[in-house]
Amino acid sequence: MTRFPKNFLWGGATAANQCEGAYNVDGRGLANVDVVPVGEERLAIITGQRKMVDFEEGYFYPAKDSIDMYHHYKEDIALFAEMGFKTYRLSIAWTRIFPKGDEVEPNEKGLEFYEKLFKECHKYGIEPLVTITHFDCPMHLIEEYGGWRNRKMLVFYERLCRTLFARYKGLVRYWLTFNEINMILHAPFMGAGLYFEEGENQEQVKYQAAHHELVASAIATKIAHEIDPENKVGCMLAAGQYYPNTSHPRDYWAALQEDRENYFFIDVQARGTYPNYAKKKWERLGIDVKMTDEDLDLLRAYTVDFISFSYYSSRVASGDPEVQEKTEGNIFASLKNPYLESSEWGWQIDPLGLRITLNAIWDRYQKPMFIVENGLGAIDKPDETGHVADDYRIDYLRKHIAAMKDAILEDGVELLGYTTWGCIDLVSAGTGEMKKRYGFIYVDRDNEGRGSLKRFKKKSFDWYKQVIASNGEDLD
Ligand code: BG6
Repeated sequence: MTRFPKNFLWGGATAANQCEGAYNVDGRGLANVDVVPVGEERLAIITGQRKMVDFEEGYFYPAKDSIDMYHHYKEDIALFAEMGFKTYRLSIAWTRIFPKGDEVEPNEKGLEFYEKLFKECHKYGIEPLVTITHFDCPMHLIEEYGGWRNRKMLVFYERLCRTLFARYKGLVRYWLTFNEINMILHAPFMGAGLYFEEGENQEQVKYQAAHHELVASAIATKIAHEIDPENKVGCMLAAGQYYPNTSHPRDYWAALQEDRENYFFIDVQARGTYPNYAKKKWERLGIDVKMTDEDLDLLRAYTVDFISFSYYSSRVASGDPEVQEKTEGNIFASLKNPYLESSEWGWQIDPLGLRITLNAIWDRYQKPMFIVENGLGAIDKPDETGHVADDYRIDYLRKHIAAMKDAILEDGVELLGYTTWGCIDLVSAGTGEMKKRYGFIYVDRDNEGRGSLKRFKKKSFDWYKQVIASNGEDLD
């Protein structure tokens, strides 16, 4: 093979709470992602250390309105189609379908919204790629049941999945069960609707919640296949290989340990069993994850069809406690790599790291992969016509696409597609800012929520269009 596969799925990705807005429209209920404000307390809230269960005075909640894609989706999908998207990754807002989460009957208005959206995609030959939960949990399930720490979540999630798979049969074929499932460990309120009581064993709670999500993911895979054998279900990891800080064996060992913390989730979802290293770790930490034989059977029988992941950067680990210099990253910080440049938010830029990560995942699982997030968060400065000359973004994406191409053509990894993150500017998950932009399409809205919401094509819009039209041949 000398070229990208013919049916390679080029596209872009968004998440409901970061773009839809309309948080209380057509019967939608309140979700965890609605009540995370911009500002200093955000991190404490998304990590479950500071409890915020509703809107509080004096805070700004950007997800309430976001870029209002709820009312602009036709215009936005038309722009994606103009770029030639083959796929569009989006997520379902659980609370549009089940506003509280534990109802028996779904909210028809919510179902209609996504049905119209999927049909709009198909109008242009765009294949939807749907994340069932992207940092998204009904607040009622959190307050009433404690979020994913509670086994009852399996019932509610299964009901959500059945409803989606039945209603969208023939409209959606590619599904992801949980966005960046490893984020439970780093952002447990966003990842699993968890906040902690004083003195409780947080690791115990997080791994118990992880077990519930893993079983829920297996159940979803089972019923997706039962309802439509055409369905393909994937897991989703916040990826980025760890490098040892030096060639000292203890640094290599530290990197291996860090990688395992992330791959743990995919080891279960792709191989179907809990790895021994995890069981040993739980033993050492006194963690007792409650699981039934039936759970283990489900995990074994219903592994995922493909492995998707986000990649923004590689990471660095050291076994030397003296080595401390850190850099920001996707939710959790890593040691700084002196060989790499950083974005304005301190995320280090490493295109070769994408090739390395693709190879590491392929070597570990030999399942088809899908890069469902990659991109550069940057401050864009539009001119008076609204145009942004975002050569820095083009440069970032060009190098990452070239690295991905090497992984496919030179190394032989199997890759289904590539969706850049935030193909249209949206609210940042980590910071809640609007000024951290990833898109090919500029949206006139600022950090305080002001702006016309008008959409403008950036320079990268035409560039990506040409990349797709040439099936990844023309990257200049
Ligand atoms: C991933 C998430 O963590 O990275 C997205 O799946 C998120 O929801 C993206 O937006 C980029 O992170 P940030 O913090 O720049 O928005």
